[in-house]
Amino acid sequence: MSTLFPSLPDDTWALGDLTVTRVGYGAMQLAGPWVMGPPADRDGAVAVLREAVDLGITHIDTSDAYGPRITNQLIREALHPYPESLRIATKVGAARDEQGGWPTARRPDQLRRQVEENLESLGVDALDLVHLRLGNAEGPQAGSIAEAFETLVELQSQGVIGHLGVSNATTEQVVEAQGIAPIVSVQNMFNLAHRHDDQLIDRLALERIAYVPFFPLGGFSPVQSSALSAVATRLDVAPTSVALAWLLHRSPNILLIPGTSSITHLRENIAAARLSLTEEDLAELDEIGRE
Ligand SMILES: NC(=O)c1ccc[n+]([C@@H]2O[C@H](COP(=O)([O-])OP(=O)(O)OC[C@H]3O[C@@H](n4cnc5c(N)ncnc54)[C@H](OP(=O)(O)O)[C@@H]3O)[C@@H](O)[C@H]2O)c1
Repeated sequence: MSTLFPSLPDDTWALGDLTVTRVGYGAMQLAGPWVMGPPADRDGAVAVLREAVDLGITHIDTSDAYGPRITNQLIREALHPYPESLRIATKVGAARDEQGGWPTARRPDQLRRQVEENLESLGVDALDLVHLRLGNAEGPQAGSIAEAFETLVELQSQGVIGHLGVSNATTEQVVEAQGIAPIVSVQNMFNLAHRHDDQLIDRLALERIAYVPFFPLGGFSPVQSSALSAVATRLDVAPTSVALAWLLHRSPNILLIPGTSSITHLRENIAAARLSLTEEDLAELDEIGRE
């Protein structure tokens, strides 16, 4: 598998009327340490974004809370005016505090302001896809999302949001959102070792709704497992490639947004989309979440 000139397979997904490549890019890692402040290598961050688009990626995931504002500014600097095919998904519902925490910010006035800030920092008149970010840094939290989600629906009807999604959501919250307005995407934590959403993914696949796993490689705690290493050794590729290929095999509605600040890793992650896993590989990998 060449990672020098990787090419994306012709594998796309429809987020409503927006077509995206199943392999996308998550921009969170472009901000400074712990997603606060600017990157040490600003030119390098801009180069990664340009390389992602040059290699054919049409789905970038971001949030104005990254940095805060840094990641969106980098995207604008690197890619504006945006190519016609590029879709930028963002999130609202969390702010940042001076300690780097992610306090909840889901009151209607806070959400409206965050949408305005995203429009401004990305330099667009309308946002392609906005996820309502729920729960907290520890994970999803039960509770009604009606008031917050209805605020986004109102902004959608005003034309400043194209499509809606939810993130860090419980299954009940996904159902509640769907009862209010159509969603095109659920963005939750999911990877080889973190399989809480298996049933939800299958249900969303039947409804043609995308499932976008965040922390596909484990995020700040990389997925490590003897089974993963064994399969990677057998296929002579990096464990990260196997972890990403497994997600693409897991369900057709899974869209990847691995994060990286490295062009080498970006190319490797794109090349992973062409990795074939056998039934034997998949069975071995399937055991990891049960370890
Ligand atoms: N909705 C939410 O609440 C939420 C929460 C977290 C994240 N997200 C989104 O999900 C995206 C993905 O999550 P993430 O970036 O935090 O975690 P991730 O994709 O699971 O992992 C990123 C980490 O893996 C490393 N990495 C990436 N490719 C690699 C490779 N080929 N070989 C070795 N290491 C590699 C990166 O380091 P290098 O920079 O050194 O490559 C980085 O430290 C984010 O960018 C963000 O857009 C959403």
